[in-house]
Amino acid sequence: MKWNAELYDDKHAFVFQYGESVLDLLDVKPGERILDLGCGTGHLTRNIQESGAEVIGIDASPEMIAQAKEKNPDVNFSVANGTDFHFEEPFDAVFSNATLHWIHGQDSLIQCVSDSLKPGGRFVAEFGGKGNMEKLIAATGQVLRQHGYARLAQSQPWYFPSLGEYTSKLESHGFRVTFAVHFDRKTPLQDGDKGVAKWIAMFGSQYLEGIPEGEKQEILEKITNLLEPDYNEGGQWYADYKRLRFVAVKE
Ligand code: BEZ
Repeated sequence: MKWNAELYDDKHAFVFQYGESVLDLLDVKPGERILDLGCGTGHLTRNIQESGAEVIGIDASPEMIAQAKEKNPDVNFSVANGTDFHFEEPFDAVFSNATLHWIHGQDSLIQCVSDSLKPGGRFVAEFGGKGNMEKLIAATGQVLRQHGYARLAQSQPWYFPSLGEYTSKLESHGFRVTFAVHFDRKTPLQDGDKGVAKWIAMFGSQYLEGIPEGEKQEILEKITNLLEPDYNEGGQWYADYKRLRFVAVKE
């Protein structure tokens, strides 16, 4: 997927703003060596560095890394794939915010994380859990099928596991899960009744691939109307996010 890094920074700042509370779980100690996996435009990577750690941010998107480097020239970033990365010097912790749901091949990812950690090192992350955005996914599927786009209706690219599924996976790769939670977090969308369309443009553009522009707008309006009773609370729109957060220690 090709990312629009500027739109991400401008209209989807909530992604890294919520991530700031995941940093509390990471509990960085000065001098630690930390990998930020899926660093996006690098806001949280910079916060980690400001806590006194030595940090490297990686992301599979060259557009995100270009923006991260431009905004934070004193932070170390590189383009790398979450299921296939390797570093000579091991880390005290691997941190990841709002990224793991994009990655298919979680066994490879968890193995790369484990290989890159010191014994006793921690993997601390938040991402979309089972049921994340289920109302938006259902509404989008319904409208696309009405318009005859049954194939696009199924094109949901994300991995939203249950807590049991993901923690079992971590355990099967030799991690001890010391904290895990699966919780609802209504997440504000920007720009009122345009927020759903903007979210889909940013994160779900695969749903609309190849649809003529006029029809796209009609589809987005119908999706917005279907979601309004659940998403619009007095003019502020919220998406039905469900998060998984965990801390896992490499034994
Ligand atoms: C999330 O943060 O939950 C998310 C973001 C974009 C697409 C899917 C999920």
